[in-house]
This record gives sequence, structure tokens and C-alpha cells, in this order.
Amino acid sequence: MTMTWTKKDLLDMESLSRDEIVMILETASGLKEISERSIKKVPTLRGKTIVLFFMEPSTRTRISFDIAAKRLSADSISIAASSSSIIKGETLIDTARNIEAMRPDIFVMRHSSAGAPHLLAKHLSVGVVNAGDGMHAHPTQALLDMMTVREIKKDISNLKVAIIGDIAHSRVARSNIVGFNRMGASVTIAGPPTMIPAGIEQLGTSVAKSVDEAIEDADVIMMLRIQKERQKNFLMPSEREYAVRYGLNRMRLRRIKPDALIMHPGPINRGVEIAPEAADGPHSIILEQVTNGVALRMAVFYLLAGGIRNADSD
Ligand code: CP
Repeated sequence: MTMTWTKKDLLDMESLSRDEIVMILETASGLKEISERSIKKVPTLRGKTIVLFFMEPSTRTRISFDIAAKRLSADSISIAASSSSIIKGETLIDTARNIEAMRPDIFVMRHSSAGAPHLLAKHLSVGVVNAGDGMHAHPTQALLDMMTVREIKKDISNLKVAIIGDIAHSRVARSNIVGFNRMGASVTIAGPPTMIPAGIEQLGTSVAKSVDEAIEDADVIMMLRIQKERQKNFLMPSEREYAVRYGLNRMRLRRIKPDALIMHPGPINRGVEIAPEAADGPHSIILEQVTNGVALRMAVFYLLAGGIRNADSD
């Protein structure tokens, strides 16, 4: 049975079924080889327009959405809050409605407030993709993480995934807990007690007593940056202490499984949550995550913009 994509928006992992996750991952795997060609472009989304509206800093996500659009021949336009009329007092919804009046096909948004993309999705008829909203969700990051693990481990349903660090302020952690859990993996988190939110187990994770307990039999170890920009006060005495007590340092690296995968969504703070030996060593798949981010975002555009229909008519 061929499944067809029916959703207008991609806002969070909670709203994706297991079949929809598999559909995105398999579409991304199929599109990945386009980036390996000498001419990295196909006409699939020719004539489509994609707006990238980033109201928070980004390197990986914004650039890979932009590259993804261009590889599919869509026209992409980037706007930052600082260069938009939001600084003159225009509301987010008015801004988005004015952009929609220019007839784009997909609106990608990163925003510091949880729920901002969901609000836009309610007010706009154009498809909205959440590129990270506050501490809430970062669905394309979780999907590219799952794609990368699936490529190497083939089946993710029986894996043990450990997510370590500042869980409380991490939209990446929330989306990965929900996503890996939905695919049947078992997810454990660990970190400083001040960075573990109460009730996080309800998302489908267990909380380990220590980082050592969480990583000792993990197939996948995902390290997270301390999100200082979201902390009112720094929740640890010092970065040095954090590195010793919670970081994936040289001592811990010696104790992980021989085939364990080390991941990080980036940006990394070397020597704090992850030692250079872990970030750059043989277990690390951090740059593979970045590579797959392009294919994954191509898949999201392809599905949301009706790429199957266009591909058939090309
Ligand atoms: N992983 C991630 O979202 O990185 P950027 O903030 O650089 O986009």
C-alpha cells in the first residue's frame, strides 16, 4: 500500500505517527544521493517558494533548509527578525500574513517562544515547518538524528538511547525522546538535577541516577550543550565541574560500548559537555548528522509541497 502525505505542517514529533516518521526517513534516504552528484539540483520543486524566517540565531538548521530548497529548485528567501518590520512593532501574525500574501508555498520558522509556529499554522493556509521553538520542539533535528542512526544501525526499534545534559532547556531532547520512543527505542536521560525537568518521564523516558549509568550500555549517546541563553542563572558552579561530572570526557569514553554512536545536535562546546576525543573520534557521527540534515529537509519540503505529484509530471 502506498501511503500519501496529508499534513499541511510539520510542527512537532507528537503529531507524527510511526508510519509518517518512516515515510519522511525513507524519502530523505532516497533524496540523499542528489547531494553527492556533481550537479546537485533536481527540478522537483521548480516554481515553489520557501520562506525561511529565523528569529533566533542558527547555523546548521537555516543553511541546511536553504540548501535543501535550492537542491530541489525551489526559490528560497531568508528573513531575520532584525531586518524585518517586527522591530517597528508589527506583530508576528501580521508579518506572516503579509508574507503569505506574496504567495509562498512553505513557511519555515525558528522562534524563541514555544508554540509560535503552531500559532502561525492556525492562521496561515501555507504549510508551516517548525525549525525550533523555544524549549519545546525541533522536529527536523530529531528526524535527521533518527535518519543518521537508522543508516548505521538499520533498525532503531531495539536500541538504547542516552540523552545527556541540559534536558530542561532542550527542544532537541524533547523531540528526540518522543521520536525515538515512537519508533520503539528505549530512551534514558541523565544530567544535573537542576537540568532535569519534573515529569519528563511522561514523554516516554527514564531518568538515570548518573551519566555513567545512562551511557554504560547505550547504543546511542546524545550529548547536549548547556543552553545558557535559556537559563536565568547558570545552573552549575563552573564549566570545569560540569565537564568532570556530566561531560563525555576521556575517562567516560573508555567505558562506552565498542559500537556506541556519539551524537550532538551542535553547536558543541568543546571541553564542556563533550571532549574533543569524543567529538572527533571514531564513535562520533556528528558531521553525518549535519550531512543528513540537508536530505531530511529536502524530504520535508518534498512531502509538504506535493513533490510526488510534481515529480510525476516532470
Ligand atoms: N542543531 C541546531 O539547531 O543548530 P543551529 O542552532 O546552528 O541551527
